[in-house]
Amino acid sequence: MGTGYGKVILFGEQFVVHGTPAIAASVEKKTEIKIKKFEGKGIFSDYEGRWHNINLMKSHPKTNWFRKILFLLLNELQIKEKNFFIEIKNELPVGAGMGSSAAMSVALSRALNTFFKLELSEEQICELAYKAEQVFHGTPSGIDNTLATYRGIILFEKEKGIKRIELQKPINIVIARIKRKGNTKKLVEHVKRFKEKNLDEFERMKEKVCELVRRAEKALQENDLQELGFLMNVNQKLLEIIGVSTKELEELCEIALKNGALGAKLTGAGGGGCMIALTPEEDVQEKVAKALKKKSLEVIKTKIGI
Ligand code: MEV
Repeated sequence: MGTGYGKVILFGEQFVVHGTPAIAASVEKKTEIKIKKFEGKGIFSDYEGRWHNINLMKSHPKTNWFRKILFLLLNELQIKEKNFFIEIKNELPVGAGMGSSAAMSVALSRALNTFFKLELSEEQICELAYKAEQVFHGTPSGIDNTLATYRGIILFEKEKGIKRIELQKPINIVIARIKRKGNTKKLVEHVKRFKEKNLDEFERMKEKVCELVRRAEKALQENDLQELGFLMNVNQKLLEIIGVSTKELEELCEIALKNGALGAKLTGAGGGGCMIALTPEEDVQEKVAKALKKKSLEVIKTKIGI
């Protein structure tokens, strides 16, 4: 059995690819993978708890992305045996900015590690998942696989590594997902083009993100939720300027703020997917969730820092 957790980025998505720090928190939603011995030939899969009986040795449009991860990992780990059976239980929406591909890669690495008794370290699991992320996202920062592996609330900086942030108590948030999906690879490429065309402006924005993250780290540690909400709103504006927000996500942010959220922003790559709202009080969380439901595909009431 292997598990990989989903995440929400609280501050600094997209800019993190260009070297600035970011803060992300794992969520309870996860991907679980079980590997069992199979006496026949070929790697079969039982997908999302339903028996599809897909032979992963053969190309299949629904599972090609999973096959890519699987064969990359088998190759990296030099596993030659192909007589096992994989059960996948995925709670994370795909293309929604919640790190579903990284959670899948971490879960699969962990499951292979246990099944083949490889004794991989947490660091090696994280690195393997990073390699899989590169297949999907081209030049990922590494934040998704890091959160999927280590969980918690993490200040992440490419090249510099991670720092854990401890909260005084868990914080309630609402996550709302819209129908439109975001393509991380394309959106990261879009931001690269924005940067090339607006070099000075982008540098100034990166400085702003560094300041936001520094202040957010302190606000999280000190449970200063007003400050945290304010910083989320500023972060959302920066994401709008670089062109990864959408009208629908902005509308959801507005609804959340009108109903009492202290801050709201898109989370992840943008272009669709999810937004998050900071709703420390339970009644506000309830009210915001109810209001967001009317315009969303799915609304999740959850906590960060558990
Ligand atoms: C995707 O969850 C976050 C991005 O910043 C990409 C990355 O960091 O690799 C958009």
